[in-house]
Amino acid sequence: MTPKAKVIAFTNQKGGVAKTTTTLNLAAAFAERGHRVLCVDLDPQANLTMSQGIDPDSLEVSMYDVLVHRLSIREVIRKREVDVACASIDLAGAEIAMSAMIGRERALKKAIEPVRDDYDFIFIDTPPSLGLLTINALTAAQKVIVPVQCEYLSMRGLIQLQNTLAMVRDELNPDVEIEGILPTLVDRRTVHAKEAIEILEENFGDRVFASRINKTIRFAEAPVKGMSVLKYDPNGKAAYAYRRLAEEVLANGKR
Ligand SMILES: Nc1ncnc2c1ncn2[C@@H]1O[C@H](COP(=O)(O)OP(=O)(O)OP(=O)(O)O)[C@@H](O)[C@H]1O
Ligand SMILES: [Mg+2]
Repeated sequence: MTPKAKVIAFTNQKGGVAKTTTTLNLAAAFAERGHRVLCVDLDPQANLTMSQGIDPDSLEVSMYDVLVHRLSIREVIRKREVDVACASIDLAGAEIAMSAMIGRERALKKAIEPVRDDYDFIFIDTPPSLGLLTINALTAAQKVIVPVQCEYLSMRGLIQLQNTLAMVRDELNPDVEIEGILPTLVDRRTVHAKEAIEILEENFGDRVFASRINKTIRFAEAPVKGMSVLKYDPNGKAAYAYRRLAEEVLANGKR
């Protein structure tokens, strides 16, 4: 029997640290290696949905209906480079709509259960907050990958995230843990970036991935074409960086 999908959330309450970019491109790198991957877009901004060329305004149903109306997640999955469970702006109202629901923190965990046999990995892209949508992601996940922008490193932000994870562990999901912290948007020309990574390693040790994602314009270009960087520029350094991260995550899983 094939094991159920491993569920990984991509979380950092700080905005613009490459959560969405990492979710999609790591998923594409896993798919290249033959893994079946579902990306769940849990962000009302719907950036992941858009970066696979799907117009969120054209959707009749989205993750909002899955979470709030218990619609089957299969109804909102579109097949692109990877499978995407789509978001729309409606999701902005999900936290309020869910606030009076019994079991509101476990809505996503329940929703993905029926498709966990269909995939090897389920990746969840989260919004830049620690609200109920992110709590749902952390409750559904076994592992969390934390992209961190090294230019404006915010240790306090990471400590806040760890506190939230500790609460989720106590109350909702005892086994969830950080798979790794990923330095993103690294500008290799600056001393500051190097120092920021050193501070990160001093504080978080081997939880910091060996992989680094350098800054390149390719990451801004690819989503405009509705593609991952692996498809947009298959032989470029950016694609290679996420392939290397895929190897690292897969090797960790075997530890
Ligand atoms: N390595 C990189 N080099 C250059 N630009 C990048 C890189 N990674 C991501 N970007 C760009 O930075 C911006 C933010 O990335 P992304 O949307 O993935 O962050 P996010 O954490 O998901 O943001 P939000 O918190 O708003 O959801 C995007 O325009 C993206 O194209
Ligand atoms: Mg995002």
